[in-house]
Amino acid sequence: MTSHLMPTYNPLPISFSHGQGAWLWDQAGKAYLDALTGIAVCALGHAHPKITATIQEQAQKLLHTSNVFRIDQQERLAQKLTELSGMDNAFFASSGAEANETALKLCRLWGREKNKELPYIIVTDYAFHGRTLATLSASGSRSIQAGFEPLVPGFIRVPFNDVKAIQTVLENRKDVVAIMVEPIQGNGGIKIPSKDYLIQLRQLCDQHDCLLVLDEIQTGIGRTGKWFAYQHTSILPDILTSAKSLGNGIPIGACLARGKAAQLFQPGQHGSTFGGNPFVCAVALAVLNTIEEENLLPQVEKMGGLLSQALNETLSNHSKVKAIRGQGLMFGVELSEPCHRLLELALQEGLLVNVTAESVVRILPPYIIKPDEVAEIGARLQKAITRF
Ligand SMILES: Cc1ncc(COP(=O)(O)O)c(C=O)c1O
Repeated sequence: MTSHLMPTYNPLPISFSHGQGAWLWDQAGKAYLDALTGIAVCALGHAHPKITATIQEQAQKLLHTSNVFRIDQQERLAQKLTELSGMDNAFFASSGAEANETALKLCRLWGREKNKELPYIIVTDYAFHGRTLATLSASGSRSIQAGFEPLVPGFIRVPFNDVKAIQTVLENRKDVVAIMVEPIQGNGGIKIPSKDYLIQLRQLCDQHDCLLVLDEIQTGIGRTGKWFAYQHTSILPDILTSAKSLGNGIPIGACLARGKAAQLFQPGQHGSTFGGNPFVCAVALAVLNTIEEENLLPQVEKMGGLLSQALNETLSNHSKVKAIRGQGLMFGVELSEPCHRLLELALQEGLLVNVTAESVVRILPPYIIKPDEVAEIGARLQKAITRF
């Protein structure tokens, strides 16, 4: 059959008919253990009864009005998210890239406020912030940017996990208004910076009156065992972006901000037709409440410990495995060579993972995963890597 889709993706010839918990079934009835969750989206697994019930209930009442009117579900979600994050205000969009666009626009407004006509934002190598023109310009891989020049100006790039490089930029330039990083680089290959990286970035931002922007679109909403990855430290960012697991599959993005950054937009300066509608906000609120009610954050830590153990037991002595790293339920197994073919081998073993940064197998299981399923991830991945 000829596809009438634009060839932005190169999909595997496999299509799923339904899911339950940590499992998906294809059209032929074969079961797959989902250790990818749609790239860190379905944190509560598939067909979670509380989420399904909220979707049904809200769909029967009201899907969409407009931000022309007050939206109670949006107010409640903003209240919950600001409580959980330590931020003051929220703006809702429909994707991660839009949440980051919001953050970038805030940084530019902040620059204007400080009379910096052409404000710059420090970003890092191999960062991934999205596919819109500004977010791909902020991202740090040429493969994402190539063909889309001229890029949006206003970014200065430094190596990830290099505080000295940022310090040098800040000491030599007066036009920098913000630093934007992922607390753990996801698409960049599950790169974990040194323990005090965020703390040092916070200090530099304070010294130079810059905003600290954390892109927690992949790491946030519990993925690393805390609501947000920066909560493993005592710092707060000025701007925080979230998406992916926030909706468990319903498209939503959020940009949260604190203090001076929370009050920068004036009516008319930013907006979204779909952003924050009653339906998506009711579902996102149910996602947050479910994570709380089912006490899933300690569970992420616990299952993450088991996953680390399983991966190390099955793979650490493998000749092709270079490194195993992760936090919470966000893991990367780095191989010594590009390994895209591994995806198909894992599928044959009934396991869903993906490959990022050419040679890193990315593992992002749902928070509701059980110990025997965690052990299965290790066993199935070992079989796939051995056949690779
Ligand atoms: C850290 C990070 N930022 C931004 C994005 C972009 O999010 P979206 O695809 O929802 O636009 C992603 C998506 O992978 C991401 O991992």
